[in-house]
Amino acid sequence: MKNLKDLFETQLKDLYSVESQLVEALPKMVKKSHHPGLQKAFEEHLQETQKHKEKLEKICSELGIKPEGKESLAMKAMIAEAEQFVEKAANDNVRDAGIIAHAQHVEHYEISGYGALIEYAKDLGHDAIADRLLRTLDQERSADDELKQLAKSRINQEAQ
Ligand SMILES: [Fe+2]
Ligand SMILES: [Fe+2]
Repeated sequence: MKNLKDLFETQLKDLYSVESQLVEALPKMVKKSHHPGLQKAFEEHLQETQKHKEKLEKICSELGIKPEGKESLAMKAMIAEAEQFVEKAANDNVRDAGIIAHAQHVEHYEISGYGALIEYAKDLGHDAIADRLLRTLDQERSADDELKQLAKSRINQEAQ
């Protein structure tokens, strides 16, 4: 890792791995969640996540970068934690509340990751790429907000 360009590429690949792992994990979370609003939120974010992954692929191909080859260990650990939790939850309401918290960890990781990537892109003069990534960042923020609202509105009370 020598310079900002290396940091940019590493961050791009990390997020590509994050989105790829999430495309696999979200359908499992839909199955394990109970509240219809939560299932719907996951299903919608799965569609967006697929697009996020494709967008990163496209950006990589435009820049001549291979997107594969860096596994995000943080994401792998977050998924493992979520899967362990799901097995231990005593009932549907507790499971939903915990799944939301685990999903929010992931969204926050994406929000900070895209935030850094966008700054690197701007510094490197890739302004159009930064704009495209900003739209992804907005969707990550909206997904996080929706999870927060779901937790506040009903799910946490039902888990009590
Ligand atoms: Fe994403
Ligand atoms: Fe996301």
